[in-house]
Amino acid sequence: DTPFLLDRFGRVARDLRVSITEKCSLRCTYCMPEEGLPAIPAEELLTTAEIVRLVVLAVRELGVHEVRFTGGEPLMRRDLEQIIAGCHAALPDTPLAMTTNGVGLEHRARALAEAGLSRINVSLDTVDKDGFYRLTRRDRLDSVLAGIRAAAQAGLAPIKVNAVLMRETLDGAADLLRWCLDHDAELRFIEEMPLDADHEWARANMITAAELLEVLGTRFTLTETEREDPSAPAERWLVDGGPATVGIIASVTRKFCGDCDRTRLTADGRIRSCLFSDQEYDIRAALRSGASDADIAQLWRGAMWNKSPGHGIDMAGFVPPERTMGAIGG
Ligand code: GTP
Ligand code: 5AD
Ligand code: SF4
Repeated sequence: DTPFLLDRFGRVARDLRVSITEKCSLRCTYCMPEEGLPAIPAEELLTTAEIVRLVVLAVRELGVHEVRFTGGEPLMRRDLEQIIAGCHAALPDTPLAMTTNGVGLEHRARALAEAGLSRINVSLDTVDKDGFYRLTRRDRLDSVLAGIRAAAQAGLAPIKVNAVLMRETLDGAADLLRWCLDHDAELRFIEEMPLDADHEWARANMITAAELLEVLGTRFTLTETEREDPSAPAERWLVDGGPATVGIIASVTRKFCGDCDRTRLTADGRIRSCLFSDQEYDIRAALRSGASDADIAQLWRGAMWNKSPGHGIDMAGFVPPERTMGAIGG
């Protein structure tokens, strides 16, 4: 038995991503259906104490180095501050990050920082008000921008901005980069993956990293940099000589599965070894029937051992997973 999360291909998972809710305040077309995801029944959702216990166990027993809270939208949970405070109290040296859409962050950034949150990534695809509305089906751009400013003031640095590229927002990509440069946020563009609820993703329609570089190249001079950490999904370019950079997460055209170091816990207490695997391992049942930390750790190791070598988006017969990004947590 190894004390860490190893898979058959020799990869070790040290990055834990915890989805804490399926609820979201936006309805981005590449992620959520218009009506939102079916609600997880309250009794199936992990409680504050259960999430804290599993996170602490993952760090102490399984060698996890960094924890990221996702959703849905993590701010939809009113106990987010308590979850973070509980994890931070037990694990003062473990970085605790969050991926958020930024809606309402303005009012909670300070409390989150005080609770022990280390840094945040904000999903923002355009700084154009109408474009934002069309993409997210909600008129909340101002709240997101205010949230980013509040996070910076609360010391949640460095702030990264994630933008999933769609044909509709490509024209605004350079403006978004300008805004991020002006606000000290590190922008990373993400290739859209077939994890949208409406199953409209098509390889032929997606914006590739190559196409984006061409568009940005008309306004900025980009210089490629070395990838520091092979398991980090983003490749980075210096903008106009630096020091600011822009990143591209080319999950489809330059996949990084061979270096993947992620393990995922869903809001209803299942371990998911890969975004694209439909196999989930229920640890909530064990947790609620009195299993010891050692028992749960053993289940978790078993779940990760079977991790697939990677997504097969470009393979013949590829079928997207049943659960969409909103339910898995990005
Ligand atoms: P940093 O530690 O700040 O670099 O965070 P991160 O990039 O790991 O996390 P974030 O939540 O900001 O993820 C950014 C995007 O990278 C996600 O929205 C996904 O599109 C993509 N991504 C993250 N993890 C995976 C993964 O395991 N597989 C694939 N294919 N893409 C991933
Ligand atoms: N492809 C790629 N990234 C996605 N995200 C949501 N849906 C998709 C998709 N289909 C991103 C969000 C956020 C992160 C949690 O996942 O924009 O940055
Ligand atoms: Fe890891 Fe799966 Fe994402 Fe590939 S698709 S990087 S294996 S989670």
